[in-house]
Amino acid sequence: MSDRIFIGKDTDGKVQELLLNKANRHGLIAGATGTGKTVTLQILTEGFSKAGIPVFCADVKGDLSGLSQAGSTRHKLHDKLIARAEKIGLSDYSYSAMPVIFWDFYAKQGHPVRTTITEMGPTLLARLMNLTEAQEGIMTIAFELADDENMLLLDLKDLRALLNYLVDNKDEIGRKYGNVTSQSVAAIHRKLLTLERAGAEGFFGEPALKLKDLMRVHEGTPDSDGDAETLSLEDLDGAHMKGRGVVSILAADDLINLPSVYPTFLLWLLSELFEELPEVGNLDKPKMVFFFDEAHLLFDEAPKALVDKIEQVARLIRSKGVGIYFVTQNPSDIPDSVLGQLGNRIQHALRAYTPNEQKSIRAAASSFRENPNLDTEEVITDLGVGEALVSLLDEKGVPGIVGRTLIRPPASRLGPVTKAERKAVMKDSPVGGKYDTPNDRESAYEELAARDQAAAEAAEAARKAEEKAEHAEGKKQTQSRQRKTPSSRKKRSTRKKDNVIMEQIKYEGKLFMRREGRRILRGILGAMMRR
Ligand SMILES: Nc1ncnc2c1ncn2[C@@H]1O[C@H](COP(=O)(O)OP(=O)(O)OP(=O)(O)O)[C@@H](O)[C@H]1O
Ligand SMILES: [Mg+2]
Repeated sequence: MSDRIFIGKDTDGKVQELLLNKANRHGLIAGATGTGKTVTLQILTEGFSKAGIPVFCADVKGDLSGLSQAGSTRHKLHDKLIARAEKIGLSDYSYSAMPVIFWDFYAKQGHPVRTTITEMGPTLLARLMNLTEAQEGIMTIAFELADDENMLLLDLKDLRALLNYLVDNKDEIGRKYGNVTSQSVAAIHRKLLTLERAGAEGFFGEPALKLKDLMRVHEGTPDSDGDAETLSLEDLDGAHMKGRGVVSILAADDLINLPSVYPTFLLWLLSELFEELPEVGNLDKPKMVFFFDEAHLLFDEAPKALVDKIEQVARLIRSKGVGIYFVTQNPSDIPDSVLGQLGNRIQHALRAYTPNEQKSIRAAASSFRENPNLDTEEVITDLGVGEALVSLLDEKGVPGIVGRTLIRPPASRLGPVTKAERKAVMKDSPVGGKYDTPNDRESAYEELAARDQAAAEAAEAARKAEEKAEHAEGKKQTQSRQRKTPSSRKKRSTRKKDNVIMEQIKYEGKLFMRREGRRILRGILGAMMRR
């Protein structure tokens, strides 16, 4: 298997190739609308997949779904694609499909992607809901409390129940964890409602996405074991897929309308990968590659702390064998601290209408290692569609000399799948049975409801006990003919009731906690074992 991905050929006649052992040094694909960014993402994804590397990408416009289908001689651009392949000396150009798993937060265009509230954590949730500092503080308290009390937070109704509990017990909780105000909790509730209205309810719950399902390699079909080289130009039978990295495509067209959800989810994914993957140092090829399309959404209005976190994760995740590729219109959309870490660069055409745009062109042009034959600043605005300034890391890890490069045509389909094709891919998917049905096991919501129930039952028991006692007492009093005023009797009986209720609650509570504690422990152990 090749140790590099063919990207294209530049005007100096040099073949531009991405070295797989440098692919974890991250990358950037930039360019104005319609200049060829998505197709570049597509050919890179094909290259990684063919090299057995799983890829994750978000499909903002639906056009990446074509990766799941082989290109076709009947495609309207077939002749152009062949001509392009010939022009750049791509002698073994053939059409072929990649193994794809479709995912979708809304469970419409793919298998549902879910995570639990606990896994997302208070910081990312705060970002997701746009919480103020004070509200984030309350969220942190809620998580600490849930931890201390072994309560599982799976979905939004768990979070709601816990927030209600926080308000109901705010004095006691305030003494132990810090101040909780009803107003702040009410504000969080309102933001939760906004999130729910935007359709985010389905994001949270189980079965939660397992990273290993994003890191699959296609196992091939049992009855066929073909080899890509020996198949015809239009190999549609899927036999060639064995050993290819599975491409996870997240439908992101709706998601993009939820600006905070998209970056938060991607960040969550990265931090999960970071936590779960071991250090591996330098590998022959990355373990996994991520493409973040519309990367500006990650950084728009992001507080500095968050940018710092992205910068840190990007820096550290390299040594875990993960490559991240940002795709965006303009490199200036990405903060310098992150941009500085993107070693492999493909810059499509930029437009220069305003002084600001001219400035960012100058910046983009000067970020490349100089080529004496090229005036990068001039070329950037002159590049054709599917053409780019390319500079990739060489064997020593140094950025290669920039070349004006015609990018190779894709092997998979240029353009989106039909509904029927998507359905067929999903039907064959190895993960459908695992994620398609939600599973609502017992968690904070049920637990707090059970506590309420226990308290209500205790109150009822106490009431009965009191009635009985009063009855007995009443009898005694009648016998001795000593009448008491109704008010004093009421007072005493309420006090008595209080005591009985408290005792009962404590007793029920202890039983309940013991029972729940064991159950939760089993749940946690189970989750650990499954990893
Ligand atoms: N490498 C290529 N080989 C063949 N055709 C290409 C290539 N790159 C781009 N094209 C052609 O240009 C069209 C537009 O490219 P693409 O969709 O990648 O642009 P884009 O930069 O992603 O645009 P947008 O910002 O609107 O998403 C493609 O549909 C295709 O016809
Ligand atoms: Mg695009």
